[in-house]
Amino acid sequence: MIASAYQDRGYGTEAVNWALDWAFRVAGMHAVRLSCFSFNERAAKLYTSLGFVREGVKREAYYFDCRWYNRIMFSILDREWAARRGVVGGSERGRENGLGIGAGEKHG
Ligand SMILES: CC(C)(COP(=O)(O)OP(=O)(O)OC[C@H]1O[C@@H](n2cnc3c(N)ncnc32)[C@H](O)[C@@H]1OP(=O)(O)O)[C@@H](O)C(=O)NCCC(=O)NCCS
Repeated sequence: MIASAYQDRGYGTEAVNWALDWAFRVAGMHAVRLSCFSFNERAAKLYTSLGFVREGVKREAYYFDCRWYNRIMFSILDREWAARRGVVGGSERGRENGLGIGAGEKHG
C-alpha cells in the first residue's frame, strides 16, 4: 500500500513490476494473480498497464456504506510477462523451457 501523499508518482508501478520480476525470474512461478474492488480504478489501471489480463469478476463481493461492489480478478502468465520484458536468462527451469523464466505452477 502506498501512502496517499505518495500515490500517482509511479511507486506502485515500480513495486508491482519488481514483484513480477521476482515471481517469474527467481521463484519460477507460472502465473501471478491478484484482484481489486471495482471502485479502485487506480489499481485496475496499474495492473492492466503492467500486462495483467482481467479474467473474471466476483459479483457483489464487498459491502461498504450500503452498497455492494464487485471484485475484479486479474492474472499474468510467465510467457506474457517474458514477451513484454524481452527476458533472456532467468531461473534454471526457465532456461530448460527456453523462456528464460520458470515454468512451475505456483500461485502468488
Ligand atoms: C493502488 C496503488 C498500489 C497504486 O500505486 P501508485 O503509486 O499510486 O500508482 P502509479 O503512480 O504507479 O500508477 C497509477 C496509475 O493510475 C492512474 N490513475 C490514478 N488515479 C486514477 C483513477 N481515478 N482512475 C484511473 N486511473 C487512475 C495514474 O494516472 C497512473 O497511470 P499512468 O502511469 O498511466 O499515469 C496505490 O495507489 C495504493 O496503495 N492505493 C491504496 C491501497 C490500494 O488501493 N491497494 C490496492 C488494493 S488491490
